[in-house]
Amino acid sequence: MTQPPAAGAHAVIDRSRLTELIRRERDDYASRHPTSRQAFAAAGESLLGGVPMTWMLAYPGGFPAYVATARGARLTDIDGNEFIDFCLGDTGAMAGHSPGPVREAVARLYGELGGPVTMLPTRDAAWVGAELTRRFGPTRWSFTLSATDANRWAIRLARQLTRRQKILVFSYCYHGSVDETFIVAGPGGPHSREGNVGAPVDPRETTRVVEFNDADGLDRELAAGDVAVVLMEPALTNIGIVLPEPGFLDTVRELTRAHGTLLIDDETHTFSAGPGGCTRAWNLHPDMVTIGKSIGGGIPVGAYGLSAELADQIMKDETADMVDIGGVGGTLAGNALSVMATRATLEHVLTDAAFEGMIALGDRYTAGVSGVIESRALPWSIIQLGARAEYRFCSPPPRTGGESNAAADPQLDEYLHLYTANRGVLMTPFHNMALMSPATTEADVDAHTQIFAAAADDLLA
Ligand SMILES: Cc1ncc(COP(=O)(O)O)c(C=O)c1O
Repeated sequence: MTQPPAAGAHAVIDRSRLTELIRRERDDYASRHPTSRQAFAAAGESLLGGVPMTWMLAYPGGFPAYVATARGARLTDIDGNEFIDFCLGDTGAMAGHSPGPVREAVARLYGELGGPVTMLPTRDAAWVGAELTRRFGPTRWSFTLSATDANRWAIRLARQLTRRQKILVFSYCYHGSVDETFIVAGPGGPHSREGNVGAPVDPRETTRVVEFNDADGLDRELAAGDVAVVLMEPALTNIGIVLPEPGFLDTVRELTRAHGTLLIDDETHTFSAGPGGCTRAWNLHPDMVTIGKSIGGGIPVGAYGLSAELADQIMKDETADMVDIGGVGGTLAGNALSVMATRATLEHVLTDAAFEGMIALGDRYTAGVSGVIESRALPWSIIQLGARAEYRFCSPPPRTGGESNAAADPQLDEYLHLYTANRGVLMTPFHNMALMSPATTEADVDAHTQIFAAAADDLLA
């Protein structure tokens, strides 16, 4: 049995009890989802891995629940189960599922105006560009269909602008399926990230890597003089949340400038920090910003922005084919539907006022989880980034991606994900992230806190 902690000590998790509880929760999950289970088994005949996209296999329980309806911060599945959704499409639905203004924009485009894919501009794009400038700073914007592509094309521009070949990333970052980024730092030096599928070249040829918050390491790597751009999230969000230490982001900016290296803030997830992401909340000054997922209110879109000076430089560069087959662009990128949906989302849903409410909910969620962790003396921590928060199985919170990776605990992940799902709360499958949308309520947050407390008590019983 679990030992009660001495004063000031942490509770010890009894692994055999955890294994027993996981078995119980798996059985419960299976009994709640018979129709999803059948649908999954049948789909194995025609779909790779039995799912439309293989990430969907990350859900615990052996198969994902099949969605029936999704509105605001609620989902129902085809077995009739209802969920409060804190996953929100891993940020793709941060605006809530199918928000009204986006529904109207989609209906108007298809029903009245027609033609989302004409390869001609509509006026919404310039509105969105100006709004992204107001929020994030860079003044010239271009569109993609995903955050991955925004990063890919921004990296290409950075290479062209600097005439340097390499990029630098922080260990255990994630920026989409961008070949150059699947590298981690290790005691024996940098190496390809475990499981990297079909890498075109050894990523050490394209990329330098250092741990987040390691200013000396960054200085040393940039000193080689071959790094075109540092691609970073201002806080890591894909290996739990790792916050920058005081002064670290200023040092990143000073060092990149000193070494002639450009700097990209990838705000795809850190947008949760406020209407202009961390870039505005923390007064950062990157050369480029990339973003995707949430800004289209569920319609595929990504965007990258750069300063007017860099934009002029690239458009005047006669060796850079920006108009035809130069390696930057996509047939459906910048389409009328994407930019109309993005305008509707930014103008009416993910507004400055909406962020105030979302961040207040993030505060409430963090306080609730933190109270459970402290009162049970669990060796865990919770880290908040505005409207997003995530618990991690270590205390104090990790300082680097490497430390956070070492704190991964797949058994605890599975237990908590199944426990919450079986009681009507959906968490992000890849990690323990919860995101607040404009449609999320205080009651939703409190429901999670109660279920999380019950899961902890069951574990420690
Ligand atoms: C920080 C960051 N950038 C980019 C991406 C890529 O987004 P997408 O898969 O929508 O292209 C992700 C995806 O999780 C991300 O977390």
